[in-house]
Amino acid sequence: MIEKTVKVAHFSDLHLSGRRDRSQIARLERLLEAIKAARYDHIVITGDIVDSAAPSDWKVLRDILVRQGLYSWDKVTVIPGNHDLINLEEELRVYNAINPDFAGRKRRLRRRLLEFCEVFSELITGNEPVTGFPFIKILQYEDLTLSLVMVNTVYPWMHLENPLGARGYVNPGELTALEGSDVASVLEGSFVIGVCHHAFRIYGTGFPIDQAFDWTMELINRKELINVMRRLDARVILHGHFHRFQTYSYGSLRIVNGGSFHYNPCRYSEMVIGADRSFSQRFVDISPEK
Ligand SMILES: [Fe+2]
Repeated sequence: MIEKTVKVAHFSDLHLSGRRDRSQIARLERLLEAIKAARYDHIVITGDIVDSAAPSDWKVLRDILVRQGLYSWDKVTVIPGNHDLINLEEELRVYNAINPDFAGRKRRLRRRLLEFCEVFSELITGNEPVTGFPFIKILQYEDLTLSLVMVNTVYPWMHLENPLGARGYVNPGELTALEGSDVASVLEGSFVIGVCHHAFRIYGTGFPIDQAFDWTMELINRKELINVMRRLDARVILHGHFHRFQTYSYGSLRIVNGGSFHYNPCRYSEMVIGADRSFSQRFVDISPEK
């Protein structure tokens, strides 16, 4: 008997710039058509869908997914990145930049996160009302149950602590929610994949210039998130943010950076998972544009 495998496609960091950029939209349609032709069971998009945090630009992706017949809970998962939730231009206006109102910034970010979840509600909660992050999808296939555990890593802009809005942080409340024994028991026996936007490793070379860049991009409490994912017996974490197509490991936990569609619209990551919970990963290149 041949056991059926489950195939997941992953890409990230689209940085769409609106409906008028027809060539960018055509490139995305092309990538999705190639992914559909290769018959994946699920597609994961790990944030920075747009460039300027404009909800109208989020809808560009939603409309493309609808057109491609992919706008459904069991086919696609989407999470936001910092560029989806933080409007840097707005934050850097003098009044906002000098205003020390951290609580206000947190509130603004939370409002925008919920707005994102409303726009993509079908892909996040299906028919259920939107509640925000974390959220979990349990997808049942013939020989395998796949669990996707999504956390939000976007951290509010702050002039000293997060000057580019690109540092990440997982709200401790999200980690606590995932630490409950009920969550572990629901996920038991399934193949668990963690999903977030920020990278766990950036350059990491030790050179001062790289260290400075790493700091502006880092996921501040990544160790805590890794520990929670380990407790949930996650095998893989998918992310984006740092525009490199790469994989690396934390012990037995495999991390996949889905790179950047913006940087290379012809490449995505593929995972093939067997019923025995073995898996393989590779980056796939579709044929370049004519
Ligand atoms: Fe990002």
